[in-house]
Amino acid sequence: MTESSLARTLGKPWRALRFWQHGSGGTNPDTDDELLQGIVETTPDCIQVVARDGSVIHMNLAGLKMIEAESITEVEGKSILVLIAPEDREVWQASHERVCTGAKLSWEFGLMGLRGTRRHMETHAAPIEMPDGTIAQLAITRDITERKQAETRQKALLDELHHRVKNNMQALGGLIRASQREATSEETRQALASASERVDAMAAAHQALYGADDVHTVDGHELIGRVCATVQGAFGSGLEIKTDTAEGVRLQNDAAVPVALILNELLTNAFKYGRSGRDCVYVAVRLSRENEGLILVVEDDGPGFEPRETGRRASGLGLVRALVKQIGGTLAIRSQNGTTVALRLSRSRQIMPGSTA
Ligand SMILES: Nc1ncnc2c1ncn2[C@@H]1O[C@H](COP(=O)(O)OP(=O)(O)OP(=O)(O)O)[C@@H](O)[C@H]1O
Ligand SMILES: [Mg+2]
Repeated sequence: MTESSLARTLGKPWRALRFWQHGSGGTNPDTDDELLQGIVETTPDCIQVVARDGSVIHMNLAGLKMIEAESITEVEGKSILVLIAPEDREVWQASHERVCTGAKLSWEFGLMGLRGTRRHMETHAAPIEMPDGTIAQLAITRDITERKQAETRQKALLDELHHRVKNNMQALGGLIRASQREATSEETRQALASASERVDAMAAAHQALYGADDVHTVDGHELIGRVCATVQGAFGSGLEIKTDTAEGVRLQNDAAVPVALILNELLTNAFKYGRSGRDCVYVAVRLSRENEGLILVVEDDGPGFEPRETGRRASGLGLVRALVKQIGGTLAIRSQNGTTVALRLSRSRQIMPGSTA
């Protein structure tokens, strides 16, 4: 590119920028200009300056290529809004206005090239004072179309995977319930009923995992709510659950299914033993932060019991203890005016990927 065209496309903002950063006393303006012009013209990102009224003041070569312009004259002095996807124009304009009044901002938007190609862009913008004293937007804008497409493909795959897990769990629950109906002994029927309830609790945990925006953690409020609703659905009016979950409490994904199973066992026990002749047992479920970790408390108003460490390993509490160990937590059972079970998960002892019981 010739000196004159470089100066035409880049000289003004560069001088404004240099003035903005160092004052007017640069030591070697010509070398500085050339260096910056070289950087601006070789970067693969779009660098542009847009006046407060939305007209394009400058755009580098990479930017012109992205908007499918042959030369700067196709856009110089014209509104940049025609290049912004209609659905993103309002946000773009509001962000531009904020930048021109002093904010530094980043945002994403759809770009429509002059020949009709659509791209997804990510822009980082800052205000810049122009030589005439007006404030314009200086932005470095990156084409993230490929990344967005990869994210969309990944999301579609994950959705499909979740869908299959959900279907498989439903099918598994259905199979167990069918066996339960055919069982001849009461003991077998009970065992199969517990198994299908456990599968339902795991399915509830999976539902909470799908909805998560964050891929590593699950929202405690949603997880607890889903499991309680599932257990409530199984036991009906014999069980009244009141939940209290602190805002923003999140659990590691790996802890979601164990916590759902633990809660299922505790609620099932409250229903089975807490009513003791009454129509209904009242259970309070609380999830909150404690020091650096989390505490889940399940409290019923039943007769209580004397907890023994050496129960059947396969029984509900045996399973609970094994799961608590697996997720590196501690369990405390207190029986006084009902039963209170507290599960503590310290942040440092939350399970690491691949750990086992
Ligand atoms: N919330 C509770 N209130 C009163 N007693 C309880 C409560 N939770 C447990 N228990 C007592 O502790 C015993 C052990 O419970 P656990 O869940 O380990 O086994 P289970 O409920 O008998 O069998 P499973 O869970 O395999 O169906 C119960 O039989 C019951 O006597
Ligand atoms: Mg039990």
